Amino acid sequence: EKGGYPTFMEKEIEEQPRAVADTLLGRTDAEGNLSLDELRIPEEKLRAVERVTIVACGTAAYAGTVAKYAIEHWTRIPVEVALAHEFRYSDPIVDERTLVVSISQSGETMDTLMAVKHARDLGALTVSVCNTLGSTIPRESDAALYTHAGPEIAVASTKAFLAQIAACYLLGLYLAQLRGGAYAEDPQAVMKELHDVPDKIAEVLRRMDRVKEIARFMADTRAVLFLGRNVGFPVALEGALKLKELAYIHAEGFAAGELKHGPIALIEPGQPVFIVVPGPDTPHELHRKVVSNIQEIRARGARTIVIAQDGDTDVEPYADEVIRVPHTMPLLQPLLTVVPLQVFALHLSTAKGLDVDQPRNLAKSVTVE
Ligand code: BG6
Repeated sequence: EKGGYPTFMEKEIEEQPRAVADTLLGRTDAEGNLSLDELRIPEEKLRAVERVTIVACGTAAYAGTVAKYAIEHWTRIPVEVALAHEFRYSDPIVDERTLVVSISQSGETMDTLMAVKHARDLGALTVSVCNTLGSTIPRESDAALYTHAGPEIAVASTKAFLAQIAACYLLGLYLAQLRGGAYAEDPQAVMKELHDVPDKIAEVLRRMDRVKEIARFMADTRAVLFLGRNVGFPVALEGALKLKELAYIHAEGFAAGELKHGPIALIEPGQPVFIVVPGPDTPHELHRKVVSNIQEIRARGARTIVIAQDGDTDVEPYADEVIRVPHTMPLLQPLLTVVPLQVFALHLSTAKGLDVDQPRNLAKSVTVE
């Protein structure tokens, strides 16, 4: 059932191009417009949405953070991401004009379910982004937008994460299309670019030999830091979470801009740091700013492992290792940049002789609060 792979997680990482492609499948009409009929929420209700709140736990919450940047940019609707277990008890500001989007692979996470029920009680419109047909959360929601990642068996989420991000992009572009007006980006142009992403994920997967080697050399590492900015920030958080879950190594993700406000104190000679570099075409000179972060930590002796786009030569003087990903538009980059971090965590866990599919103390779906 592992399809020739030693672990489910390896199989599921390899299935990622397919998971994203299947999630995008059949969501556009002949003219290239998005059609999310399955949402079955009247268009005027969606047009009236004034705020979006995303509720989720763990990896799904990081998918939600990627979604926040994309949905806000495309729709100009304010988006908030709440950990589901915090949401309910925070006296949340939610009404009929709030779209509460839950994200859950299993559709059974109790914390997320309770958040959705609470949102419904407050009158919100609820949409479930879910990978499991007929599970509880989509049944308890006004509408469901299914990810088509296929069953995910390994406890640490990989392909479901990418599919969740893809589904949230669809939702954001659909809301942008419905609301009309001047788009920050033409939804059809983004869709076109999104359809090219599965092949690019496959390309990233073909380039993973060096990442596996780095992981093997780092089996004795005690702590690893991850830096990212904008949509690269949740990627950094996810890279750190994967390493905690799979290799039981202390790992932290930071927003790169926060470095000088504290975390740089952690840098000592030999400290491994992964840096997710925004593409050179990212607005607001974020690329240059992250490159200068790499320079700063390198000067303090950090071992810099840089994830950068093809052709980005600016990182080279400060990188001990460069892991390359193909070009895509800035907001879509997480679908590519997270893959090396997943592969790294998996191979570090394997190098330590740990159980990749069933890490200690964790369960695939947590059905208690
Ligand atoms: C955790 C799982 O307990 O629940 C994580 O170990 C997962 O992998 C999180 O991200 C949320 O799960 P779900 O099914 O709601 O996406």
